[in-house]
Amino acid sequence: MSKTIELLNQFVADLYVSNVKFHNLHWNVTGERFKEVHEFAEELYDMLNEQYDEVAERVKMLDAFPPASVKSYLEMTKITELENRDYAIKETYELLLENLKYLQGLATDARNLADEAGDFATVAMLEDIVGAYCKHIWFIKQALK
Ligand SMILES: [Fe+2]
Repeated sequence: MSKTIELLNQFVADLYVSNVKFHNLHWNVTGERFKEVHEFAEELYDMLNEQYDEVAERVKMLDAFPPASVKSYLEMTKITELENRDYAIKETYELLLENLKYLQGLATDARNLADEAGDFATVAMLEDIVGAYCKHIWFIKQALK
C-alpha cells in the first residue's frame, strides 16, 4: 500500500470518529450561547461526514480499499473520544479546535505525499479540505479571544 493511501485511510478512520465526537459536543454543549455552538458543531460534523465519503471514494479511485467498518476505525483512529457529560462553551471550542488542527495536519501531510507522487486529483481534493479547516479554525480562534 502506498504511503498516500495509508494516510488517506487513516484520514477516513479519523473523520468517522471525529464525526461521532462532534455529535457528542453538539448534544452536550451547555451555556448561554448553546444554540449557536450547537449549530456550529452541526455544521462541522456535516462537513466531516461529506469529507469521510469523499476521501474513501478517492481511495477507491486509486484502486485500493478504504476501511469500511467501525471496528477498523476504532483500531486505527488517533482521535480520543469524549465521555457523556456537559461541556462548557469554551471547553467545547477548545476540543473542536484541537481536533480540527489534527485533521488539518493529517490532510496536509497526505496532500504533500500525493504531490510528490504527481497525484494532482488527490492534491486538489485535500487542498479544498485544508482550506475549509482553515476557515473553521479561524472562526473558533476568534470566538476564543
Ligand atoms: Fe442535531
